[in-house]
Amino acid sequence: MRIIVRFGGIAMLVAAIVILAVLPFATSFVEQWTRRDVELRSRLVFNSVRDQVSGLLARNDAQQAGILFERIASDERVLAIGYCDGQELRFPTSNMPPSFSCAEASRSDSESFSVVRNQDHNVLVSSFPLNAGGRPGHLVVLHDLSYADQRGGEARNYLFLALAGVAFGAAALAAMIAAIIMRRWLSSIRQALESARTGNANPPVEENIIPLGQEIRDVLQELEASRRTIDAAHTDWSPETLRAALSNELSGSEVIVVSNREPYIHNRTNGGEISLQIPASGLVSALEPVVRACGGTWVAHGSGTADRDTVDANDRVPVPPNHPSYTLRRVWLSEEEQDGYYYGAANEGLWPLCHIAFVRPIFRETDWQFYRSVNEKFADAIVAEAKREDPIILVQDYHFALLPRMIRDRLPRATIVTFWHIPWPNAETFGICPWREEIIDGLLGSSILGFHTQAHCNNFLDSVDSYVESRIDREKDSVFFGGEETLIRPYPISIEWPPTAMEGQRPVEECRRIVRERLGLSPDMRIGVGIERFDYTKGILDRMQAIDALIGEHPEWRGNFTFVQVAAPTRSKLANYRLLQEEAEALARDINEKYGGDGYEPIRLLIRHHEPDEVFELFRAADLCIVSSLHDGMNLVAKEFVAARDDEQGVLILSAFAGASRELSEALIVNPYNAHAMGEAINRALTMPQNEQRERMRLMRDQVKERNVYRWAGQMLLAASRLRKQQRIRRLIARGRRLAPANA
Ligand code: F6P
Repeated sequence: MRIIVRFGGIAMLVAAIVILAVLPFATSFVEQWTRRDVELRSRLVFNSVRDQVSGLLARNDAQQAGILFERIASDERVLAIGYCDGQELRFPTSNMPPSFSCAEASRSDSESFSVVRNQDHNVLVSSFPLNAGGRPGHLVVLHDLSYADQRGGEARNYLFLALAGVAFGAAALAAMIAAIIMRRWLSSIRQALESARTGNANPPVEENIIPLGQEIRDVLQELEASRRTIDAAHTDWSPETLRAALSNELSGSEVIVVSNREPYIHNRTNGGEISLQIPASGLVSALEPVVRACGGTWVAHGSGTADRDTVDANDRVPVPPNHPSYTLRRVWLSEEEQDGYYYGAANEGLWPLCHIAFVRPIFRETDWQFYRSVNEKFADAIVAEAKREDPIILVQDYHFALLPRMIRDRLPRATIVTFWHIPWPNAETFGICPWREEIIDGLLGSSILGFHTQAHCNNFLDSVDSYVESRIDREKDSVFFGGEETLIRPYPISIEWPPTAMEGQRPVEECRRIVRERLGLSPDMRIGVGIERFDYTKGILDRMQAIDALIGEHPEWRGNFTFVQVAAPTRSKLANYRLLQEEAEALARDINEKYGGDGYEPIRLLIRHHEPDEVFELFRAADLCIVSSLHDGMNLVAKEFVAARDDEQGVLILSAFAGASRELSEALIVNPYNAHAMGEAINRALTMPQNEQRERMRLMRDQVKERNVYRWAGQMLLAASRLRKQQRIRRLIARGRRLAPANA
């Protein structure tokens, strides 16, 4: 109300200033106009009597001239009339002011007008040249101007009243418009604030319940609380705390996850049965427990041979099969699409581009076209799955660089959090990619773009800086591109804690015995393990060379140490992967021939997929684990080994080029390209006192426990929630700004 009164008051004040400025001009205009009217009258009088007066003066007929002048002066506005013969006034009428003198009137040879003061009013003296009998003279007509002053005063009063009326009307109108605008503005602010509070896009509006300032304070407090939750969220992340954080911060929100690899694969066995496979994928092992905890929909490529037989009419299947808690929506790809998008563009192009493993990337235009069209296909599936206009969409990995932009175009109000699970190369390396601008544009459709490490974030920002027109805020680590902001953040991925695979694990001593028996090893054989997909980035050949170096330089380990390498076949359609497997088999054979004998093989290469509980059993049976990636975004095997060792024994040998080395600094950090040094690290691990092993393992377990995958997901989702609130407030303020001037 106060604002409206203030609005009306300002309008009144402006009107008063206008009136004060205009009034003197208006008064003087009326006076001039009246004076011109009187001058005209004088001229009329002169013209009508000129000849007559001229004749009378020529005859010097004073009597007739006096009568004529008195008759003219009988007009109520003519005060007096007379004839100036040079300086001498002749035939003045009776009302001629005694102070009048011909001196002024006779000065000009042409007609002239002047105003003189007579008693208490103004008099207009009009003087017209008129010759009488050859002598120059002037006829003077005096008009009383008091009536003109009166008319000017009246005009001024009327004008003042009229302007005051208009000003008052304008002020009332302005106040009315202000009231309407304020009402609409307040209502839209309330709506947006309510929406920010509840997370609903279109909440019901209850007007005037809480004063606006209070509402803004409430939302800001919520933002501050969510910031504190994010900051304080460094301990005790679990499915429960993640669920609680989500229901506090994002209640009612819809979460959709999208990845190429599906979390559950249904395959048809040779006997015709349907079997369930959990793929060997870091992405799946990290994300699955999170989606299990918060529910929602996971959109992924249906790659299993029995996948189509297990979905409903909408290609959906509830998972996990035993205790469903979310929906898996499968997307079907033809063989041609898989060859172009998955094997070609993603794994022969982007994978070697992003990993420094000295494998040349292959960029085929036909592959890129499939990559683009498959991204479109996933965008269609996501839009079809979305029940709201503002879902939270978690886009996973290098298979979907174009997807964030495609979703942004279709669902502008979605919060898109993209996570790039592999390293991002430096700008110079990235620059060789023929699709670099399109990839950056696609990724900048995201609200938040996450990498494992700050170094990868920096590489991405440098790439943006080098190849697209944008504004980079280095302090905030964000990019403004096409009017939208994308936050670039490090979120180190992790594993669930405690891992599901630990459920039902036997005590360590038993695992050691069982594994040794299974592999036909003596009970006191020392064991090292390496477990991964058969990928050239993992440094499998390099660690075998390190075994060679170890036994070569420390022959005491010959016959006493076995390295068990588990390698799950992967991407076998691609020549580089087939070649790696052949090379690894040949190298293992060579080393075994070199140092083996009597049933002893220093390297046991097990090429098959192992289920998580088998993997954990192996971890528990081992004395050491080698993760020798040539380059790796994070590497979860390292964290799983630590999580498996609740006996606080065992040594982790970890590549400096895996993201995990930033967090697990108590591991023996190695350069996988240096076989000798890695051999020495293995020797050190095998001779490390139990106390030292315990101290190192304890610290690493604390780290993995605290920075588990629920924290990873929680940090991203809470950042998304905060962003949604900030964006709603920004939209609200922008809407308010647009509304106010448009209606004012
Ligand atoms: O590291 C990238 C990644 O997508 C991981 O998330 C996952 O462990 C691996 O590649 C799986 O690859 P694929 O799905 O091709 O078997």
